[in-house]
Amino acid sequence: MSESKRKALSFEAIKALSESEAEQELEWLAEVISAADKAYHGDDAPDMSDADYDALRKANTAIEALFPHLRRDDSPTLRVGAAPSEKFAKITHSVPMLSLDNAFSAEDVYEFVARIRRYLGLPSDAAIPLTAEPKIDGLSASLRYEEGRLVHGVTRGDGAVGEDITANLKTIASIPQRLEGNHIPSVVEVRGEVYFPRSEFEALNQRQSEAGGKQFANPRNAAAGSLRQLDVEITRSRNLAFFAYAWGELSDDLSRTQFGAVARLSDMGFTINPLMQVFEDVESLLRHYDKIEGQRASLDYDIDGVVYKVDDLDLQRRLGFVSRAPRWAIAHKFPAEKATTLLEAIDIQVGRTGALTPVAKLQPVTVGGVVVSNATLHNEDEIARKDVRVGDTVIVQRAGDVIPQILGPVLEKRPEGAEPYEPVTVCPVCGSHAVREQKDGDKEDAIRRCSGGMICAAQVVEQLKHFVSRNAMDIDGLGEKQIAAFFEEGAVKTAADIFRLQERDEQKDRGEKLRNQDGWGATSARNLFAAIRERRSVELHRFIFALGIRHVGETTAKLLARTYLSFDALRQAMMTAKEVGSTSWKDLLDIDGIGEVMAKSIVDFFTEPRNEEALTDLLTYVIPQDAEAAQTDTNISGKTVVFTGKLEKLSRSEAKNQAEGLGARVSGSVSAKTDILVAGPGAGSKLKKAQELNVKTLTEDEWIDLIAQ
Ligand code: IVH
Repeated sequence: MSESKRKALSFEAIKALSESEAEQELEWLAEVISAADKAYHGDDAPDMSDADYDALRKANTAIEALFPHLRRDDSPTLRVGAAPSEKFAKITHSVPMLSLDNAFSAEDVYEFVARIRRYLGLPSDAAIPLTAEPKIDGLSASLRYEEGRLVHGVTRGDGAVGEDITANLKTIASIPQRLEGNHIPSVVEVRGEVYFPRSEFEALNQRQSEAGGKQFANPRNAAAGSLRQLDVEITRSRNLAFFAYAWGELSDDLSRTQFGAVARLSDMGFTINPLMQVFEDVESLLRHYDKIEGQRASLDYDIDGVVYKVDDLDLQRRLGFVSRAPRWAIAHKFPAEKATTLLEAIDIQVGRTGALTPVAKLQPVTVGGVVVSNATLHNEDEIARKDVRVGDTVIVQRAGDVIPQILGPVLEKRPEGAEPYEPVTVCPVCGSHAVREQKDGDKEDAIRRCSGGMICAAQVVEQLKHFVSRNAMDIDGLGEKQIAAFFEEGAVKTAADIFRLQERDEQKDRGEKLRNQDGWGATSARNLFAAIRERRSVELHRFIFALGIRHVGETTAKLLARTYLSFDALRQAMMTAKEVGSTSWKDLLDIDGIGEVMAKSIVDFFTEPRNEEALTDLLTYVIPQDAEAAQTDTNISGKTVVFTGKLEKLSRSEAKNQAEGLGARVSGSVSAKTDILVAGPGAGSKLKKAQELNVKTLTEDEWIDLIAQ
């Protein structure tokens, strides 16, 4: 298997990684994910399935969560809208936007300075003044000014090409539209970091939660989401901010030093970081590092290290770059933040499909400026492996700024009589048996599940939350919080109850009506009822996904919709597929992408009497729209098509959808089974292979003609 064909590590394997293995894995992931993104964007068709791609991204996120300080500057998680996007125009940076090498220890910093001296041929005691400043955890952007006027603002993208987000950047108060002062070079490209001030971030999440909207995990994600808005008024409302710390193209030098150049940027109207200073030796750099780390929690922006840069710009020029990072700068990362606290209890959370997750209840402790009082313990094997016990003092790490984790107990502090954790055998919510299923072979599933199904209140609430969620029914104004409240009150016990809410409300006394309840008003109540009514007609695949059938994610829901076309047809087929060996059962298994476990779960769902009843009730309100038939009588139906090279008239997803709508199968790689290869400019190995295999090859125009017939 070639290196790029290697798959993502499993979660189990990730948890076992050592620090240096994790570092290597992250390096590999950054490379393959970036190559896949490029391929997807147009160089060539991706030869990776969506599932493999998602798995790589998930692995990357998981490793970063376990080793936050190892997160790379070119990490896929840092790319604005790393998902290929066609929303914003691409702009090539006139000077590439580079990343920084990392230092993780004082030794690394000494070595960095020693390397510089060696490179410049200076004696080992030569003074090299360096600047030190916080590494802002935001998103970098490049702003181009011509004759003092802002002409465009671009994301970092892959460093060479970014996205034009000028309109969004113009809404940021700390980004001047015109430069101030005299002697301004005719071309100035200012680079720096867009960030979400922490105070604004908390206010945003507060507003989001009141509106039942999604919560942002951290300020950086929120900044990324806020910048990529087509509606710039949304960006404006978020009150983002910008620190200037570097530059790209300049028609004239700004200064002879880094510090002087940044001071000039300040004179031109930019905000620069007040913690930036120049130092003559490594000891002073390290003292400043400690000082900044000490202030970390009280700053109004997230930082993840301190950046050191050679102050003398002539020396910077002489030092130049190695691959994608300058020799004259380095990022000294902060270690992952840890704290110790008391494990007061282990609670069990019940998920939508009955999965029981042990959650650590902690004596609240501040880790990196955030108060942590809960942490997932994943499953009982994990608890046993770490040997954490109620009463233990445990080490908590805030991973990736989001999910707090327990690393293990401080054994010296274990109180006498602390007992190992005893797994529960009944569901704490409904009392049904809780079991670990047998997987292939004699392995047990790591997850214990409540067998109560829909008699378990916890599962019901979680199912309802899933039902209304964004990729399912997507009912505006009806989020997790509202569902939990309606359930609690007894107003919503089944999905169908949601559609009876208005009628129920109309029968209530004035004071009891929704509009008079806490958190609601006349407008929000009216809007909610309208949003619910609106969703009585819903796309078939959303409806299927909303049902929360175990193992059926969005992709499978789409597959089922495209295959069965109407909900009635699907339901009928699943009822008859109960008969193992029946044609319907075989048809179901024949669907590319549906295996036995999934098929069984789907059939079980539809044939379970309680579900049958609930569905019949729900369908008196909801009308799933018929899916568009993949056509079977077109000149490409049943054919396997591969797209490669750059498409100039159609986007990749447009071409794929059209082809699938006309009944073709779209594949990422050329094989003997390929019927048509559509090759745009820049097509390479796939075109060659297709020619060797005598596969019919079309240009994009020929393809458009073909499907127009
Ligand atoms: S200097 C040629 N200074 O870190 C080096 N970068 O790895 C130009 N960053 O993409 C970058 N704070 O997003 C520099 N004070 C700072 C920074 C900083 C954050 C980010 C920036 C860049 C990445 C470089």
